[in-house]
Amino acid sequence: MKLSEIPPGSGKAGTINGKPVAVYNDSGTPVVFDNTCPHAGCETEWNAAEKTWDCPCHGSRFTAQGTVVNGPATSPLPKLNGKVEGDEIALG
Ligand code: FES
Repeated sequence: MKLSEIPPGSGKAGTINGKPVAVYNDSGTPVVFDNTCPHAGCETEWNAAEKTWDCPCHGSRFTAQGTVVNGPATSPLPKLNGKVEGDEIALG
């Protein structure tokens, strides 16, 4: 996944090395999450209007930085160590 594909202040769900990730571009710094909803394992989707990660399965919602806005999830999206190599986002 390329950082240039994610405008600052936006997020994008995708994969890195086959692993589902959710990446938020925080003013040029990627914040990388394991995109596995802590409720029951579905993948969240970026909600551009609300700037949240929304889970389509049971309605959990998380802030851009991964903290819970709405349950049933009770814990945040797990953060991963991300880094940028050129324009490519990699896991650290
Ligand atoms: S798996 Fe995400 S809300 Fe249930």
